Amino acid sequence: MAIIIDDENRIFTLQTQNTTYQMKADTQNVLLHTYYGEKTDHSDKSLLIYRADRGFSGNPYEIGKRDRTYSLDSLPQEYSSFGTGDYRITSLRVQNQDGSQAAELRYAGYRVQKGKYDIPGLPAAYAQNEEAETLIIRLADAYSGLEAELYYGILEEMDIITRAVKITNYGKEDVILNKAASMNLDWEYGDFEWISFYGRHSMEMNFQREKIHHGIQAIGSVRGSSSHQYNPFAIVCEKGSNETMGSCYGFSFVYSGEFLIEAEKDQLDRTRLICGIHPDNFSWKLQNGDMLWLPEVIMTHSSSGTGKLSRNLHKVIREHICRGKWKNSRCPILINNWEATYFKFNGEKLTEIAKQAKQLGIELFALDDGWFGNREDDSSGLGDWFANEKKLGCTLKELAERITAEGMQFGIWLEPEGISEDSDLYRRHPDWAVGIPGRKACLSRCQWILDFSRKDVQDYIIERISKLLDGIPVSYVKWDCNRAICDKFSRLLDSGRQGEFAHRYVLGLYRVLEELTEKFPEILFEGCGGGGGRFDAGMLYYMPQSWGSDTTDAIERLSIQYGASFGYPVSAMGTHVSTSPNHQTGRAVPLSTRGCVAMAGTFGYELDISTLTQEEKAEVKEQISRFKKYYELIQYGEYYRISSPYEGTCTVWEIADPSGREAMVSAVYHHAQANPAPVRVKVQGLKDEAGYQLFLNEDLKEKYPGRRLPYGFGSGEVLSGAALKQFGFVVPEAINGFQAWQIHIKECQPVIETGGRCV
Ligand code: DGJ
Repeated sequence: MAIIIDDENRIFTLQTQNTTYQMKADTQNVLLHTYYGEKTDHSDKSLLIYRADRGFSGNPYEIGKRDRTYSLDSLPQEYSSFGTGDYRITSLRVQNQDGSQAAELRYAGYRVQKGKYDIPGLPAAYAQNEEAETLIIRLADAYSGLEAELYYGILEEMDIITRAVKITNYGKEDVILNKAASMNLDWEYGDFEWISFYGRHSMEMNFQREKIHHGIQAIGSVRGSSSHQYNPFAIVCEKGSNETMGSCYGFSFVYSGEFLIEAEKDQLDRTRLICGIHPDNFSWKLQNGDMLWLPEVIMTHSSSGTGKLSRNLHKVIREHICRGKWKNSRCPILINNWEATYFKFNGEKLTEIAKQAKQLGIELFALDDGWFGNREDDSSGLGDWFANEKKLGCTLKELAERITAEGMQFGIWLEPEGISEDSDLYRRHPDWAVGIPGRKACLSRCQWILDFSRKDVQDYIIERISKLLDGIPVSYVKWDCNRAICDKFSRLLDSGRQGEFAHRYVLGLYRVLEELTEKFPEILFEGCGGGGGRFDAGMLYYMPQSWGSDTTDAIERLSIQYGASFGYPVSAMGTHVSTSPNHQTGRAVPLSTRGCVAMAGTFGYELDISTLTQEEKAEVKEQISRFKKYYELIQYGEYYRISSPYEGTCTVWEIADPSGREAMVSAVYHHAQANPAPVRVKVQGLKDEAGYQLFLNEDLKEKYPGRRLPYGFGSGEVLSGAALKQFGFVVPEAINGFQAWQIHIKECQPVIETGGRCV
């Protein structure tokens, strides 16, 4: 049983396989947070909360004369509110009709549901009824009639607890929500650090680990989408914890819009974390009977470091966020023409790329930007989702048919949220572009954004894109969005509701995505936000993969993919092999390294094949067959970060089959050194008792004959799982700059029976 309720003492304990979460409604009807962490029993943990009279931390009226140790400013709470005695960061800030900013949320009951709740209009983890349970706790403000229902979804086997909130105004007067977070988590004690992922366009997901100090630390976005600058995901971990040891907590916000994740260490060394929609661009009016759902946060805890935490998140995203046919089918290996041609192409050129790609084993041709409207560069045409037949030299249907006749599937790039000033759509509907009447709206990449908060705009896009996709044999769509949003305003919202725009935009986008993905269940959709500008669990609910970054440099990708691996599975990371020297950095990287790095993702190509030598073409063919051979292992295996791109000479990661029968270790030398120290890999996820052989990727072995390889790579040499775990093996030295090795580890006979030899 995942939910244990002690009705007499009003204690709610949520149990997963390895974790426990507990809350208690106390004598004042405040819902206390009493525990989250390693699995324990369901006894009352509130007894461990230490209370003392704290000067300047006031007491609720009902208890203030009797007990000055009871203060909302120091008690760990489940959902805190602003204005009534808690001076820390809080989850809810409201404005009542009289202008006061106060809410006192008190326990008002609970109910339990079989299965996992879902959220109308918002992405959320889903599960079969027997896989999950839901607890709903009601909190109410007796003064205003405002209620918050706290939803907890428990996926017991996965060590996952999800949280979401539904706010309803049962009062007669309007209430404005000025801040409404999805979760609040208080730690009564502990010395914590937090890990977050910052970046910029073409350099997303940089890892950052900092001490949680006294004061407030925050990451977030006010850019309309989750953003390149900060990912809506954070880890709070015990000081001293690492990949394999120590307590850590993960929080993944299932939302693609503006967000804020804040941490505060307070006067009593207690830590509070709050995650939700960013309040800076948010206010929401609730009239009598109105309600608002706040997006979901996926939480997990690991007692054995961040490695296990990431694997929990990979699994829940792969199995309970991603949906549809492509969740479990092998995605086609694609070639995208963007870095091959940019805007300079015609139908013939594209068909030629597709033809040559087919010969190498590539399965899908994706036509990127520039095929529609008057789009010769990025300054015009967005919004006109009609083929530029003059440029293509044929209709889009004819082009798609030509390409499919070559035995390739056909895919297409779209940016349905974008609108250019120089477009027929803008000339017809200037009021559909986001902007404030009377002001000139800021341009970015020479474009604006359509007002997706409007139903008429959503309907138009659904209809236009449906007609387009219906008319061609299409198997893949890349859904791009190439700017952040400012000048936020919708002409259809009255002045008192403009603060609702940013969230309504995201709700509109989700509606469009839901309808289109439902209408076209066979199409593989890939999200893209000008690279990794909208790489979040919310988008993965509609599209199982997302283009990771506009940098395709394999060495830069090491840190981007390293960062992403903390919260997202390999199957979600859009990766391509591009040309060398790389277009973004000018760096030359061997083809084998580019292949190795792209294989830690969806894997595809983005270069002009006609420029490849025969030798390179043979290598591409080999890479494709290797990727296909190890597809299941790579996409569905358990991911281990062995060494980081920020340290040492070599970035190493491992993907192990959950059964422990095989694993793939990828090692990329990111820093060339003379006389380098050996790079040792301690392999995880194998069976101690079994014997394993190590195989280098064959193409590389053949290229470097006569090299002295470390023990384990000779034919017939066997290492036990225990030895590989404790002593590991040494990665062969780098021969070229940025050398990569892929090492396949395969079980053979049990070591004990064969005396160390594989027979
Ligand atoms: C940004 C994407 O990330 C690129 O891959 C490419 O599709 C361009 N947009 C096209 O404009």
